[in-house]
Amino acid sequence: MTRIAVLGSTNMDLVAYTARAPGRGETVTGREFRTVPGGKGANQAVAAARAGGEVAMIGAVGDDAYGTLLRDGLEHAGVDTDLLHTADGPSGTAHIVVDDTGANAIVVIPGANGVVTALGPGEIAAIAESELLLMQLELPLSAVVEGARAARSQGVRTILTPSPAQPLPHELLDHIDLLVPNEHEAAELSGQAEPHAAAQILLRQVPEVVITLGAKGCLYAARGGEPVLFEAPSVNAVDTTGAGDTFVGALAVALGEGRPVAEALAFASAAAALCVQKPGASTSMPYRSEIEAS
Ligand code: RIB
Repeated sequence: MTRIAVLGSTNMDLVAYTARAPGRGETVTGREFRTVPGGKGANQAVAAARAGGEVAMIGAVGDDAYGTLLRDGLEHAGVDTDLLHTADGPSGTAHIVVDDTGANAIVVIPGANGVVTALGPGEIAAIAESELLLMQLELPLSAVVEGARAARSQGVRTILTPSPAQPLPHELLDHIDLLVPNEHEAAELSGQAEPHAAAQILLRQVPEVVITLGAKGCLYAARGGEPVLFEAPSVNAVDTTGAGDTFVGALAVALGEGRPVAEALAFASAAAALCVQKPGASTSMPYRSEIEAS
């Protein structure tokens, strides 16, 4: 089994489903409300565990009812939560609007995620014992940089989802093996709207890039090679929340198993395609048997 450490966020997702998202200053009446465990870190952890990985989660929940639910959800998925701390105060929350095309808009309130500013010996040891470290940007940057540096110094492969997009310091990018932005994040980080052009810029900073393109698939690029576009399975999306996290979790498992990149990307794309066909983030992530059968 691939041993994966996830250094990242846990959020309770408060999701409003509506025909269309409101514009600025506008009120619309939605159709349904759901409370779903999420957070980019926790989503990647659940996705990787369901895809067949042995996963440890590093982060924090609050000492509120959401914190208990978030921890329970991870444990139910088989994720090791020994390094998921309980901080004083509220858990992270994500306020999400999903429209009838399945597209979403998200505001995250960090809550307990914001207290994870540094790593202790236990966290460093868990990273060192893993084959891959998955990171996103919903924890304070100081902790992400420390985790990436610790991983690199131990020969642990690092995958960064640069979301929410923000300028990334060299002290982080220097320790990243694979960057997985979506097309908006890739454009923001590179200054190039076109994915091939964005990938070329990003490859100056990291050795490998996968730009996820939603229904259009993903673009893989590595230094010294030609970028390759991989198509996504054609499906009817009802909620794209967590699709990128599902992609990364499944990709990490497949890469950890030593599968060729094309095969790993096909596995990840199949997982993400299954995820978008159900509502919610962690609730819609497929199990390995479902991915292999799709
Ligand atoms: O990537 C999806 C996730 O982003 C949601 O689960 C939400 O919690 C936000 O962190």
